[in-house]
Amino acid sequence: MPLLSGHEAVPLGQEELAQQEEHFVGFTHGLVRLTPGSWFLPAAFTNFADKIYNFQWRSDDVLVMAYPRSGTSWLQEVVWTMKNNPDLENPMADMPLLARSPYVDMDMMMDGKKMPPLAPDNPLLQGFIKMCPGGNPADGVNLQLTAATPSPRIIKTHLPLPLLHPSLLDTVKVVYVARNPKDVVVSLHHHCRLLQTLDYSGTLEQFVKYFVEDDVVYGPYWRHVKEAWDKREAPNLHFVFYEDLKADPASELKRLGGFLGCDLTKDQLQNLIKYTSFAEMQARDNVMGVKSAENPVMNQGVVKEDGGFFRKGEVGSWKERLPAEASERLEQWAAKNLEGIPFKYSI
Ligand code: A3P
Repeated sequence: MPLLSGHEAVPLGQEELAQQEEHFVGFTHGLVRLTPGSWFLPAAFTNFADKIYNFQWRSDDVLVMAYPRSGTSWLQEVVWTMKNNPDLENPMADMPLLARSPYVDMDMMMDGKKMPPLAPDNPLLQGFIKMCPGGNPADGVNLQLTAATPSPRIIKTHLPLPLLHPSLLDTVKVVYVARNPKDVVVSLHHHCRLLQTLDYSGTLEQFVKYFVEDDVVYGPYWRHVKEAWDKREAPNLHFVFYEDLKADPASELKRLGGFLGCDLTKDQLQNLIKYTSFAEMQARDNVMGVKSAENPVMNQGVVKEDGGFFRKGEVGSWKERLPAEASERLEQWAAKNLEGIPFKYSI
């Protein structure tokens, strides 16, 4: 049975799944590849796909969309602050970012083998019971919490455009952030080692191979970016490069403010830039509510060695990590796939 998006979900064969399970130790109860598009997702996606496709968007929603580790959290904080906290005096700002800006497709990512069912005192489940009375957690805690979030909602997704309803861009504003894939791959490798639910055990070189062969969840990377790039002229899509935001935050945040209808004063803009800078977001470390160094879902060895969720926050930090051969491999892959997308740096 095809999904409502028209995609067919094909489970990974035993051999390929065994290979994945060897390296992504904490992950998962199966994986699927969707046709068309070759979108690579946890099998649990199929439990939520149609509900996400038919999600009731509201005209004042903002959807922050990105391939993982491209700057999603940064943009979520920027958009939330611009809309709800331009004077930096809203006490709600102390809440975890994911409580203020829900992640609509997160439920499928919680299906890892090392992910125990949510304990009754888990804050996420507590929030769910409060906000979604009578709701069944099996129908997606995050999905239902997203639906129950009061307007104006700032929602996060790592899903690509073709898996959402085609009328999405007629209804809501979408902010898409893209980042140099070399920095993405290094950052994502870190992320997959960091989270116990993924617990990646292979090398960075092996990870690059998975990435360029479209065998990392939420990929293919290039198609994810291209789907949004091709819609960049749509009035409700705002495309931003991580690198541009780093290089000239004032211009980029002004441009974003124009798109969102948030006319900030000069002082508000300067304060926003500082408040959402890497240094300040890293110091607050407030995506999930528990700082990386105390977070039981994070491998503490990795936190100590390489940092937590907020690792480096730089442009070009791949140079310190990527072996020459892996770097060349990515260049060849990029030359084939990213034609027409003007990254403002060499890949
Ligand atoms: P690094 O691992 O290179 O540091 P996402 O939120 O999409 O998963 O992206 C995470 C990446 O964005 C991480 O990259 C993280 O450090 C970086 N990041 C988060 N907040 C940032 C900020 N305010 N400024 C710059 N980079 C930021």
